[in-house]
Amino acid sequence: MGSTSPICLITGAARGLGRELAEVASSSGAAVIAMGRPHPGVRSLLFEGEADIRSSEAVADFMEELPVDRIDILINNAGVFPDPDVGLADLSLEAVVDTLDVNAVGALRVTRACLPYLLRSPYPRILNISSGMGSMSYAPRQGSYGYRMSKAALNMLTSALATEFPQFKVLSIHPGHVRTEMGGPRATVDSSASAAGIWELARTPPAEGRFFDYQGQALAW
Ligand SMILES: NC(=O)c1ccc[n+]([C@@H]2O[C@H](COP(=O)([O-])OP(=O)(O)OC[C@H]3O[C@@H](n4cnc5c(N)ncnc54)[C@H](OP(=O)(O)O)[C@@H]3O)[C@@H](O)[C@H]2O)c1
Repeated sequence: MGSTSPICLITGAARGLGRELAEVASSSGAAVIAMGRPHPGVRSLLFEGEADIRSSEAVADFMEELPVDRIDILINNAGVFPDPDVGLADLSLEAVVDTLDVNAVGALRVTRACLPYLLRSPYPRILNISSGMGSMSYAPRQGSYGYRMSKAALNMLTSALATEFPQFKVLSIHPGHVRTEMGGPRATVDSSASAAGIWELARTPPAEGRFFDYQGQALAW
């Protein structure tokens, strides 16, 4: 990273893993832009605002308010998981479409809106918070069609961005099974540990266009 503080935009930064990421990034000296409902618990934010990432207009309105002209690190963290373990016969196609819209197209929308800002960075980085459930070769659970399809699509976004923008470092990250509203109370990984690992990968990306877990372990697509 350069000598000046990195400028980092995080989606879904109001709660869960996104909020922890905002905490760890701002504690390490980054200027953090939090896209998500405002939360008084996060310290030293450069800017915060609300935007539904299913809406291009909402994302554009958010970007217009930014007090910066460059972004060094974009963390596409916002996500939904409405269909845990639901099988084919019982799934809601509306929920599947919504999940794809948030988890995959939402990340694409935000990334495109951030592109001019990333292109002004001397070391642009994009971290897409994916999931082991998006891996083609590792299928830990049945069902969850919408979520699994969305994270596989997000992984393809990582690969496509890395190909189009070789000057960027673009990673997909599996954050572990994290104790958040989504992960539930029996999840094995504390959100602060996951966020610390992800932030380390943001600071020193091990490779581009690849899939890692939050501890930097390479994962198969
Ligand atoms: N927790 C796990 O075990 C686990 C495992 C693998 C991957 N992940 C991934 O890690 C990321 C963070 O998950 P989490 O556990 O922190 O989940 P979470 O506690 O449910 O938080 C989800 C975040 O996404 C935001 N969000 C949802 N829909 C949005 C939309 N349409 N527009 C803007 N923001 C939206 C939420 O904002 P609001 O507060 O406004 O709703 C919230 O900040 C997700 O991408 C998830 O798929 C989590």
